[in-house]
Formats: sequence, C-alpha cells, structure tokens
Amino acid sequence: MTGSAELDATRDAYDGVAVRYAELFATELERNPLDRALLGAFAELVADAGGRPVADAGCGPGSVTAHLHGLGVDVFGVDLSAAMVGLARQAYPGLRFAEGSMTALEAADGSLGGVVARYSVIHTPPEHVPAVLAEFRRVLAPGGHLLLAFQADTAPGAHAFDHRVTLAYRWCPDTLAGLVAAAGLTETVRLVREPGPAERFLQAWLLARRPDDA
Ligand SMILES: C[S@@+](CC[C@H](N)C(=O)[O-])C[C@H]1O[C@@H](n2cnc3c(N)ncnc32)[C@H](O)[C@@H]1O
Repeated sequence: MTGSAELDATRDAYDGVAVRYAELFATELERNPLDRALLGAFAELVADAGGRPVADAGCGPGSVTAHLHGLGVDVFGVDLSAAMVGLARQAYPGLRFAEGSMTALEAADGSLGGVVARYSVIHTPPEHVPAVLAEFRRVLAPGGHLLLAFQADTAPGAHAFDHRVTLAYRWCPDTLAGLVAAAGLTETVRLVREPGPAERFLQAWLLARRPDDA
C-alpha cells in the first residue's frame, strides 16, 4: 500500500494549489471533446450494467464528478486534499465529496458500477499501483467499469516527470494495461492522443471491466 508519507506529500501539494488548480481547470472539459466522449461512453456503460454508484477517485475540484452527474450517473468524489474537497463541495453543493484515499476506498466489496481515476493514479509510486488497481477491482461489482486517464510515454514502464504540482509518473499504456489485467480486469478500450498545445506528453485513457464471473 502507498506509504503515508507519499500520501501526505500529495495531499499537502494539492492543498497548496487547490484554488489556482480549480480556476485553471474549471472549464477544461468544455474544451476537451475526446474526454467528454469517453466519459459519456463510460456513463452509458455503467447505466447498462445496472446503474450502481461510481467513485471519482482523486476528484480534485469535482468537475468530472459534476459532468458524470449531469449524464445521470450516481457519482461521488473522493480526494486526499481537504482543500480540493472543500472547493468541490462549494462548487457542486448537491453532490457528495469525501476526503479519502484511493488506496482504501470507503465502499463495500463489489458495490460500485464504476471507478474513474482521471490523472490521479499518476501520483501513486509505480510499485504501489498494483495495490491501487486491486482496490479498484475490490469495490467494482461484476460487470463494473474502470476508466483511467494518464500522461503516456511510448517507452515501456513508468517514468517520473516534473509535474507542476508534485511528483508524478507517466506510463507506457502497455505497461499500465498489463497491471490492469493482472488485477483481474479486462481491457476494453485504449485511446492515446497527441499532446495538445499546452501539454508536453501523449495523453492516454484505458477502459477496463471486471468480468461478470469474477
Ligand atoms: C491532477 S489532479 C486531477 C483531478 C481530477 N481528477 C481532474 O481530472 O481534474 C489529481 C488529484 O488526485 C488526487 N489524488 C492523488 N493521489 C490520491 C489518492 N491516493 N487518493 C485520493 N486522491 C488522490 C490529488 O489530491 C488531486 O486532487
């Protein structure tokens, strides 16, 4: 499991930038049609699988949580950073946000229809990512969906980079997909796109599903 010192460092870093982060990214999804398309597909898949609750793990200021809510998803946000959770509650008072870690989600085994982790697993040291993926698998119901977004690299493995907030890792999609499979989830979709004007790296999404009989 990710050590508490690493979680503390991530929490402190995001607490320090939360207001600025929320301002910068408040309307980011509106300019991002591919992300909206994937979140839309994820919302439909979760509904088709029974419409169980969804966790937005590492929700930050809550814009993805709110977007999914707008698509009819029964979604709640979880974030390490109290400042992020406070901003999310302020911006979206009707939605549920909690302080917590994706390393130990407050959800019963097999209770969720989906987990989305958009640019949040990037802060987990690579050696601890299998435990986080196992936690996602634990909370997913059979047939539930996991959606991951991350900065990507073509070289195999995980690569630390100078993320503007705190230590982060970009992943070779094959490497991360291998860990997702090892956690007992079946990859269903993978998208890799070129960096946009304000980005330095490839950007990737992985969608995976907990098998019905697992
Ligand atoms: C780059 S921001 C992304 C926020 C949001 N998902 C989005 O797409 O705008 C990363 C967020 O993940 C949170 N985070 C990182 N590690 C976490 C963990 N182990 N558990 C919960 N939240 C975490 C950080 O506090 C931060 O708010």
